[in-house]
Amino acid sequence: MGAMVIRKIAQIGHPVLRAPTEEVSPEQLRSPAFQSFIDDLIETMRDANGAGLAANQIYQSVRVCALEVGDNPRYPYKPKIPLTILVNPKVEFLTEDTFNNYEGCLSVPNLRGLVKRRAEIRLTALDREGQPIDQVFKGFAAGTVQHEVDHLFGHLFVDWVEDPKSLATWAEFERFHKAEFMEEVERVVARYHSRNN
Ligand code: NI
Repeated sequence: MGAMVIRKIAQIGHPVLRAPTEEVSPEQLRSPAFQSFIDDLIETMRDANGAGLAANQIYQSVRVCALEVGDNPRYPYKPKIPLTILVNPKVEFLTEDTFNNYEGCLSVPNLRGLVKRRAEIRLTALDREGQPIDQVFKGFAAGTVQHEVDHLFGHLFVDWVEDPKSLATWAEFERFHKAEFMEEVERVVARYHSRNN
């Protein structure tokens, strides 16, 4: 196996972020080149402290994304998610209920905004070995999954910001919006027990 490479991350305005990605075939998934690409995706996500990263964010229009939430300095309130590779993921909404998520994105530099996310979803996908994943996510973990899968269909969180006045740089989020958002965080965590699921 070759050395892992930290790739450049595409920024908002680049068309690669707006095109729906191509489904991955079983042969493609098994190939050493594709497995090595997945290693680069993980390495790039970790280097940038991302909670997730989609293949088209590193200029490859294929339907695969990585998720991983540990002690993340960008999102300290997010529930932990072990390293997960999603190939050809699909999200099904299990409720009409939504919560407010103050999202950010490595492809949208220095901006956060309020987005409504479904509070409970079912995720089906393949892992990097081609084994099926079928899992329910609630609360902020569900929000993280929806954000990453959206990337693979050409959507960025800014598409769902209902009130543009919620847009804030990371510094001004900390100064003016964090306190109120942390009340929503407590409500969501209490309701969906999503801190550690
Ligand atoms: Ni993103």
